[in-house]
Amino acid sequence: MKTMTDCFVMNNGNKIPCLGYGTWQTPDGQTAINGVRTAIEMGYRHIDTAAVYGNEESVGEGIAQGLASAGIKREELFVTSKVWNTMRGYDTTLRAFDKTMADLKLDYLDLYLIHWPAAANRFEDWDKINLETWRAMTELYKAGRIRAIGLSNFKEHHMRSLLQTEVRPMIDQIEFHPGMMQTDVVEACRRNDIVVEAWSPLGNGKVLSDPMLAKIAEKYGRSVAQICLRWVLQHDVLPLSKSVTPSRIEENKKIFDFELCAEDMAAIDAMAPAGSGLDPDNIDF
Ligand code: A2P
Repeated sequence: MKTMTDCFVMNNGNKIPCLGYGTWQTPDGQTAINGVRTAIEMGYRHIDTAAVYGNEESVGEGIAQGLASAGIKREELFVTSKVWNTMRGYDTTLRAFDKTMADLKLDYLDLYLIHWPAAANRFEDWDKINLETWRAMTELYKAGRIRAIGLSNFKEHHMRSLLQTEVRPMIDQIEFHPGMMQTDVVEACRRNDIVVEAWSPLGNGKVLSDPMLAKIAEKYGRSVAQICLRWVLQHDVLPLSKSVTPSRIEENKKIFDFELCAEDMAAIDAMAPAGSGLDPDNIDF
């Protein structure tokens, strides 16, 4: 990947820009509108949101403003959203999708994801629930209302049945950052031609104060955030960079003009576990 508009190719042939702008924890209203508009003006062409973030209307407004001020067409932007856990199932997913589209004020979506798998800790028929959600997504995909469909926070055992269906998942968006690599999930995705996206590539800001990362950052003359985002990319994983701060939105896109050497990649790979603790087999939401 040489620029932020270079793309990963999904298993349906569609392209997805290799750096996304994330909106989790972005306050609804002017902050979200300004963040998304600024990102588009600065050249980001991939926006990631979700119904549960509670900011889709503002993200939609930011997209409208950003397209206008950057002078680009809707087709030049890649937009992702996700169906929330309370809306799993066939009819409910169709309804959730309509609400998301009305809030975003878009007439198609580039990517729609199942936000978290239904899992055995809460549902005896968890696999069937995921299959029903997937059936609705497949229908929307075949109708052309969504250009690609996929998963988020799915481990291999959650996705097994879905891989046997007519339309296979194209994406799995997982927590991935220094201290949280989920190698088994990434390998399962590789085997099944699923592109992996990284949420919280900065460990939700927590790894930014790591002394070893600071040393590596100094060596390259970069910020720790840039080192983390670059490390994600060099693992062929797609980082979703979240910031509402214009200077950081600008900083976080400057990750294409340097390369981490194998030794530094390995040192970051070996960092102590620093995950959020959110495990799809244990969540209670
Ligand atoms: P803010 O949005 O206030 O600018 P993650 O993507 O891993 O969840 O991390 C998001 C957090 O990291 C947010 O609190 C965001 O703050 C912060 N952040 C994003 N980019 C940078 C950066 N370049 N330098 C410092 N903090 C950053």
